[in-house]
Amino acid sequence: MDNLVIVNHPLIQHKLTILRDIRTGPKEFRELTREITLLLTYEATRHIKTHDTEIETPICKTTGKMIEDKKVTVVPILRAGLGMMEGVLSLMPNASVGFVGIYRDPETIQPVEYYAKLPKITDSEIFVLDPMLATGVSSAAAIDYVKRAGGKKITLMCLISSPEGISFISSKHPDVKIFTASLDERLNDHAYIVPGLGDAGDRLYRTK
Ligand code: URA
Repeated sequence: MDNLVIVNHPLIQHKLTILRDIRTGPKEFRELTREITLLLTYEATRHIKTHDTEIETPICKTTGKMIEDKKVTVVPILRAGLGMMEGVLSLMPNASVGFVGIYRDPETIQPVEYYAKLPKITDSEIFVLDPMLATGVSSAAAIDYVKRAGGKKITLMCLISSPEGISFISSKHPDVKIFTASLDERLNDHAYIVPGLGDAGDRLYRTK
């Protein structure tokens, strides 16, 4: 698939293995989520523009390249996406942050947006963060929202994805490139990713 990049670097694989492990507690889970996201960000930002800038080293004047991280917006999907936010911001500290909160109505199975606050994003490179791309319904709804707010250059970053989630996003948003640390086997009957890591929000915030 043209829109999918699986970033399977040995460091990411190593950290992802510890992240998946049921024995890993919330402190380490949060640290690993941040670190894996940081490594994903390195790949997911290859396309962003740079501009020349004049500087002076202790030796001479020279021209360097800089990114415009003020034109980057990070959009974590609440709540588990929050765990990935610091990983992106540690590399691009001037990025803006917008939030989209979405839950799935248990009756209708439709995504419901319960909170959304975005900065001005029309010219931004936008990175939507969703650690677990399971059915893809929440990510697709968040991307819909970002597009309605004028967002155009959108990348989706995930830790673990399912084939079902990738297909769903590809059909709804073929213009969005997906960067994931792993493409797992499938979804189970409860829409959890197999083998996955369980509920990312619960493991980040020890809510179970
Ligand atoms: N959300 C999670 O946190 N885990 C899954 O496996 C699927 C959705």
